[in-house]
Amino acid sequence: MSDTKTPPTLTTSAGAPVADNQNSLTAGPRGPVLMQDWQLLEKLAHQNRERIPERVVHAKGWGAHGTLRITGDISKYTRAKVLQPGAETPMLARFSTVAGEMGAADHERDVRGFSLKFYTEEGNWDLVGNNTPVFFVRDPLKFPDFIHTQKRHPRTNLRSPTAMWDFWSQSPESLHQVTTLFSDRGLPVTPMHMNGYGSHTYSLINAAGERHWVKFHFKTRQGHKHYTNAEGEKVIGQSREGYQEALFGAIESGAFPQWTVQVQIMSEAEAERTAYNPFDLTKVWPHGEFPPIEIGVLELNRNADNYFAEIEQAAFSPSNIVPGIGHSPDKMLQARVFSYADAHRYRLGTHYEALPVNAPRCPVHHYHKDGAMRFFANNPNPDAYYEPNSFGGPVQTPEYREPPLKITGDADRWDHRDGNDDYSQPRALFELFDVGERQRLFSNMAAAMQGVPDFILERQFAHLEKVHPDYAAGVRAAVEADKAKPAEDPTTLPMHLRAARGLEIAE
Ligand code: NDP
Ligand code: HEM
Repeated sequence: MSDTKTPPTLTTSAGAPVADNQNSLTAGPRGPVLMQDWQLLEKLAHQNRERIPERVVHAKGWGAHGTLRITGDISKYTRAKVLQPGAETPMLARFSTVAGEMGAADHERDVRGFSLKFYTEEGNWDLVGNNTPVFFVRDPLKFPDFIHTQKRHPRTNLRSPTAMWDFWSQSPESLHQVTTLFSDRGLPVTPMHMNGYGSHTYSLINAAGERHWVKFHFKTRQGHKHYTNAEGEKVIGQSREGYQEALFGAIESGAFPQWTVQVQIMSEAEAERTAYNPFDLTKVWPHGEFPPIEIGVLELNRNADNYFAEIEQAAFSPSNIVPGIGHSPDKMLQARVFSYADAHRYRLGTHYEALPVNAPRCPVHHYHKDGAMRFFANNPNPDAYYEPNSFGGPVQTPEYREPPLKITGDADRWDHRDGNDDYSQPRALFELFDVGERQRLFSNMAAAMQGVPDFILERQFAHLEKVHPDYAAGVRAAVEADKAKPAEDPTTLPMHLRAARGLEIAE
């Protein structure tokens, strides 16, 4: 049915009415086009600027708006208003894959990002986690190297299994995350069928100024659902946008996905006694030692009206914390506290936090001045544009100070692998898997190892052996079985499969 209301007059971006949006301004019906056709120039110039740099990692994403409701009571641990009993806070979620570019297929085996922005009355609180509780590396100096192995090879411009396993086999701290990645949970059916984890250890600070360490977990209420590699490939053959379709469709139809919010709490004294470093991002806190406490529900209930404005321009950063929630000594977290806001200034522009999707829903008073996207108002008194001033400009409020954190130790480049047990926790995970899950882990891993030189595989098998002899034997057998399959004629394979399988690629 057509809309019978009179449509609004089309205007330029400066608001002038447009008389003709079909024909360029030309000298005679055959042309040429006159350079004074500012309407044409404006359209072409805008088109040239419709793309911004994609995120250097986590480029492909899906998101929605929602609400965090707190039903439990952890007020003895934190004064954060967003975590008080009964609090309801509007929020934004963005899920993502890590390695693929913006056009990547949704159903690729990869870790999934799980980014949350809570618009609290004390500022924005961002939890930028994954669907896994741990990570591949524990020292931020290794993060760019790790990401290079996930992205494209400089010469072939293809992803390189050799690079991935070369790096992982020399980084035993990756075993826990690698085991998760190649297990069933490495390929969720939709973002609604996976957990989210804040992953890092953060801190909670209560009204008395006491600190506890905390981990945040978001447990799916839709149940865990995963695809096998074969199912994933079939889905990709039908649609490369399966996650967007599922998430957008569910919310549009009123089937709002929910997650149960849990925390694990550790006292500062307990953190001195754990057998593992509780700030090591390659480790979980076992539930038996630190039982999860249920504190609320996260619900996604509103789709973005404009994907670019509200999801692509969303800027999540672990540096965004609010009073009552703080950081921790996790080395990876410190690097992330720098890296994200730096990325946003490059990807979105200096004042990216003034964009509606990033703007706090509480009053903002700062002294940052000019630069790209300076479209917010002055402080109420325009004479107060530096600090300290005598004109009533915003001032610091000492009551928000965090309690001091005791830090000791000699400054050095400490070997983060020295004396670190990289095998016990992956073993605990492996032991959770039933026979079928183990078999799929073996075959998923072997599939990702095709074309990788034997000396690299042997190095990886030696690590798997230390996790569990059955793990090493299972993957080795799956690799051998793949190798025993009838050799493919390289000339009949597309280039990407030849490269992935380590076959000669020169014509
Ligand atoms: P528990 O048995 O108490 O907890 C097991 C945890 O593992 C649950 O959070 C569960 O998530 C998750 N889990 C269950 N099955 C699988 C699976 N097939 N693949 C991945 N995760 C699964 O054990 P612990 O706390 O002692 O941890 C044992 C191992 O479980 C760890 O080494 C770690 O690898 C893994 N794990 C632990 C977590 C933690 O925070 N302690 C969090 C996630 C994983 P769910 O309840 O959603 O099923
Ligand atoms: C995105 C850096 C580790 C989860 C990004 C981006 C950068 C980055 C620069 C792009 C940001 C943007 O353009 O908006 C780093 C560095 C890390 C690190 C330097 C380690 C030193 C991690 C870890 C996790 C994680 C450990 C999860 C536990 C994410 C997620 C996104 C992301 C979910 C996407 C955010 C979004 O949805 O917009 N990372 N990262 N990263 N990272 Fe990391």
